[in-house]
Amino acid sequence: MTLPSLRFGSKMARYCIVQGGMSIRISLSRLAAAVANAGGVGTIGGMGMPPEELRQEIRAARSMSRGVIGVNLMYAGTIFDHLLETCIEELVDFVAIGAGFARAPFKKLAQFGIPSLCIISSEKAARIAARTEGITGVVVESGQAGGHLGPENPNISTWELFPGVLKALREHGFIGPVIAAGGILHRSDVDRALRMGADGVQMGIRFAMTEESSASPQMKQAWQRATGSQVEDWSPTGMASRAIVPHTDERLPRITQDGVRCTTCLKFCRHRNDPAVSHCISTALTRSQRGDVANGLVFTGPRVGEIFDIVPVAEVFRRLLTPAGQTGSARVGRPLVTPP
Ligand SMILES: Cc1cc2nc3c(=O)[nH]c(=O)nc-3n(C[C@H](O)[C@H](O)[C@H](O)COP(=O)(O)O)c2cc1C
Repeated sequence: MTLPSLRFGSKMARYCIVQGGMSIRISLSRLAAAVANAGGVGTIGGMGMPPEELRQEIRAARSMSRGVIGVNLMYAGTIFDHLLETCIEELVDFVAIGAGFARAPFKKLAQFGIPSLCIISSEKAARIAARTEGITGVVVESGQAGGHLGPENPNISTWELFPGVLKALREHGFIGPVIAAGGILHRSDVDRALRMGADGVQMGIRFAMTEESSASPQMKQAWQRATGSQVEDWSPTGMASRAIVPHTDERLPRITQDGVRCTTCLKFCRHRNDPAVSHCISTALTRSQRGDVANGLVFTGPRVGEIFDIVPVAEVFRRLLTPAGQTGSARVGRPLVTPP
């Protein structure tokens, strides 16, 4: 099967492979541009950075690639509106919005002719998204994804979640592309998602574990050593999340006294409201991104144990473009874990 292309407004990505946005500073311009240059869709993770830094990342990515490059924003972020404004000013190719929902941002993006992706994890959200003006495409993200999780059942797989959400979207009149995300690593997964009716796939951890990703070498090593991930429920966002090591709340960094990081963090944070409750998620993620994995958080989905190597993005695409069953997509080393 030849991989289909994916249209974003006036631009076309040669392959229907979307690199998921990864905050905090994991997917920056270098990764997004490399993915776009390989024919996929590159995404800068915008959460956790001030608007001017995001602007510089967008411009840097543009200087490296003429492919499709967008920005991922979390609606739950305190400065979401400012970051959205920056995306509009820079006329990015698309904006993907997750972690919370409002209709207004999609309408606004449409007014400026900017395509948008709405990230959802339930049939209920599908019915709302289908009726929301301006949404160009939908990403259906399962409990097999890394980071914060949307599904009610955080263990639900893409194969279990996707068909019902796709059906709900189509029954309620949504005609745009629907993209499957969570636990998609290999060409065989991509083919399986396409057979289920997906128009494309979004992949996170496979791209986090590349040379172009901005995670620290220590974080990349932690992913390489990991055999899986577990669901945690102590995130101050109130959402379940997946991380590779059993962090205890005590080990995680507490919020700084001056609260400086909160200006680019979450609108609602249980920890900010009551510092006795939990840790600062932004500090924990930033520590790992910078190399202090022992005191930080390492997000990933449960299939991380199937990726053994840190390779250039071009090599990821070479493997993905090799039809399943042929040697080019083979992995070396430990045996494969069969997806549920
Ligand atoms: C380290 C990490 C950080 C992530 N950060 C974000 C984020 O900021 N916003 C978001 O919508 N999704 C985020 N995600 C989810 C990815 O964009 C993607 O949808 C998901 O990882 C797909 O699952 P996979 O990793 O199994 O391929 C993150 C994932 C990882 C692994």
